[in-house]
Parts: sequence; C-alpha cells; structure tokens
Amino acid sequence: MDNVQKRVFTNNDFQDVILDRHSIRNFDPSVKIPHDEMVQMIQEATTAPSACNLQAWRFVVVDTDEGKQKLRSYFMKFNLPQINTSSAMVLLFGDTDAYKSYRELWNKAYTNKQITKAKLEEVLHTFLPIYEHASKEMLTADASIDSALAAMQFMLIARGHGYETNPISGYNSENAAATWGLDPNRYVPVMAIAIGRPAPDKQDEVSSVRYPVKQVYEFH
Ligand SMILES: Cc1cc2nc3c(=O)[nH]c(=O)nc-3n(C[C@H](O)[C@H](O)[C@H](O)COP(=O)(O)O)c2cc1C
Repeated sequence: MDNVQKRVFTNNDFQDVILDRHSIRNFDPSVKIPHDEMVQMIQEATTAPSACNLQAWRFVVVDTDEGKQKLRSYFMKFNLPQINTSSAMVLLFGDTDAYKSYRELWNKAYTNKQITKAKLEEVLHTFLPIYEHASKEMLTADASIDSALAAMQFMLIARGHGYETNPISGYNSENAAATWGLDPNRYVPVMAIAIGRPAPDKQDEVSSVRYPVKQVYEFH
C-alpha cells in the first residue's frame, strides 16, 4: 500500500471541495472506508507543505470498536457522536524527532537524481543544523504547524473522495500519544479528524458563521 497514486476523485469540483466544506458531526455508521483508500487519502494529504520539508506528521487511524473505546476514555463527551458514528477517527500527531530522518530523505533524493549534490549539501548544512540545535518548543511548534497543514489537506482530500470531516481537539491531550503506544515526549497531539459520510437524517445544527472579512485583514 506504500505507493498508491491513483488520483481518482469522486468530487473534482474545486469550488465545492474548498468552499462547501463544513464540519459534520453525525455520520452514517454503516459506512466503512477501505484501508487502501484511507492510505491513499493519507498519501495525498502528505503533499501538504512543511517547514524545510521536514514532514513532521504522523497519522493514527482508529476504525475498530476497540480503538474507539480507547478514544472514549480521553475525549470530551460532546465529541461522542463523532466517535460513535464516524467511519474512522484519524489522529494527527506532530513528530518532534522528524529531523532525525532528514539526512536519509535527502540522501535518497540525491541518489535518485532528484536533486543536485549542491542542493544536498545546502540542505544538510543549512536546514538540518537548525533542527539539531532547536529547542523543544520550536520542534513542537514546527511539528504542530506541519501536521495542521496536513490535517487541512486531508479534510479537503476527503471531500474529493466523497467523505465529510470534523476536526476535533476536544480531548485530554496528556493521554493522547501514550494511548496509542507513542512516546509522549516525541509525539505532540495536534488534532483528530472524524471522517465518514453524513447521516442522511441528521443535518448539523451548527452553521459555519464567519466574521465579516473586513474584521480579519489589513494591508501595509
Ligand atoms: C483545531 C480545531 C479543533 C476543533 N475541535 C472541535 C471539537 O472538539 N469538537 C467539535 O465538534 N468541533 C471542533 N472543531 C470544529 C469547529 O467547531 C469548526 O471548524 C468551526 O465551528 C467552523 O465550522 P466549520 O468547520 O463547519 O466551517 C474544531 C476545529 C478545529 C480547527
């Protein structure tokens, strides 16, 4: 499942995919997402940009009853409908050790003739030391930003595949990594994404109200 690259979207209407995304909190519980499609969506989501191409994201897909029971132990009660009815809950973690695989990634790109020797040297001598000497705070912030971008990309990709989503951070983040056997010192919880097809009879009551645009920008 490593190299899936099918690019077959059921919804190719860019305007609809972007502008008509809304959080869905009640899903059709009978819908299962095949693992190869989930992996494809994750692969597509990882086309998201990341700082220095560090790709400091980790996806944990929870789609079993046992897994969902674990979610109930640390998610806030108001998020139970999404846990109970979604096809899957996709948990995004930022990897603060991502820079440790950085050398291997770029060496491979050089070996595959995707980049020049000069580019390889530049990357390894300019970017890598920044992370090797970075504070935990910076590594956490970078990993969180990378993962949040991948999360947004995943939610739009999901719409391309005909699914709807709800981003969720209403949970006890202290327990998030350890519940899945991840090292809490390395992996920072960023958000969960409930994914599935909307329940036909239960329309969401919460509308996506936005501030008037003039309140949120300025030019200089
Ligand atoms: C980081 C983040 C955390 C969120 N956490 C929750 C949550 O715990 N439960 C929930 O129902 N919605 C959650 N939301 C969804 C927001 O309420 C929703 O995106 C917002 O109201 C705008 O509505 P829209 O997604 O329909 O455009 C979260 C959204 C983001 C981006």
